[in-house]
Amino acid sequence: MSWDFQQIKQTLREDAAAVASPRELEDFRIKYLGRKGLIQEIYASLADAPKDQKPIIGKEANDLKKMATALVEERKQGIGSQPGKAQRQLDPTLPGVAPRVGHKHLLTQTIEEICDIFEGLGFSIQEGPEVETEFNNFTALNIPEDHPSRDGFDTFYTNVKDRTSKDANLLLRSHTSPGQIRIMQEHTPPLAVVIPGKVYRPDAVDASHSFMFHQIEGLLVDKDVKFSHLKGLLHAFCKKLFGPDIKMRFRPHFFPFTEPSAEVDISWKGGKKEWLEIMGCGMVHPKVFEYAGYPKGKYTGLAFGLGVERMTMLKYGIPDIRLFYENDLRFLEQF
Ligand code: PHE
Repeated sequence: MSWDFQQIKQTLREDAAAVASPRELEDFRIKYLGRKGLIQEIYASLADAPKDQKPIIGKEANDLKKMATALVEERKQGIGSQPGKAQRQLDPTLPGVAPRVGHKHLLTQTIEEICDIFEGLGFSIQEGPEVETEFNNFTALNIPEDHPSRDGFDTFYTNVKDRTSKDANLLLRSHTSPGQIRIMQEHTPPLAVVIPGKVYRPDAVDASHSFMFHQIEGLLVDKDVKFSHLKGLLHAFCKKLFGPDIKMRFRPHFFPFTEPSAEVDISWKGGKKEWLEIMGCGMVHPKVFEYAGYPKGKYTGLAFGLGVERMTMLKYGIPDIRLFYENDLRFLEQF
């Protein structure tokens, strides 16, 4: 068998130039350098070649091998930056690919909407830490030592010691109310703040419970704040959030940190049930002022706490709290 080495080299270069993808590069390598490739075939032909041809064929085969190896390396670098045949034919008249633009999660939207309303009513927005002391989460809120909400079934305790207390561990706040204590320790009245954030409770997860959810706390302290202010404020808020036809009622309730305390129910035309509970509220308990370090009898205040998931479910008719956390785009994209 005689070989036209000129022709082979020419084809080798052309083949190498046409390589446009890693796959094509591999085909090229196999064609020339593979075990059954052309160069091996040339080496194999040495056995039957006339004696005087052997050194020539051997040298040419060696050259080809070097060339092919070098070309494989070269093209390997080139594929990334140098467009192959298919990519070279860019058609600038084709429509572009629009980037997918995301948007805020529905819960974030609700939190912002609620905070905006209160900002419009003169409140400022503050945040507190999710890891809290027992003192801020319970004691300073006048929650007695033996209150069931303090036990491990109702609150997540960490194994980290609280350096500010003798034998307490830090915990995951079970409500945003410890934010009230932090604000009062740092500011003197008059003050009006809302505190949005995550809270944690070891509840079994079902359609209406989650071990983590969001609350928004409100606190207003001044001289001569009255329950009527609380009613007026929450009424104005609900009208802004749910529309002017909303009906509201204050139902007496108990919280250790407010006195008197109430739960707020709302009802609206087209709503399924007659009354739906949306938040807890009340007048700041004098004991709480005491723990916060305020002078006795000088101030009065109102406080409220609402569940963001619950509000959002009511507002949009969402049947299951788990939908908020599954991040299924079919759900999220509706809002
Ligand atoms: N912290 C209470 C809860 O989680 C809500 C609340 C806040 C009630 C402020 C009254 C005043 O249920």
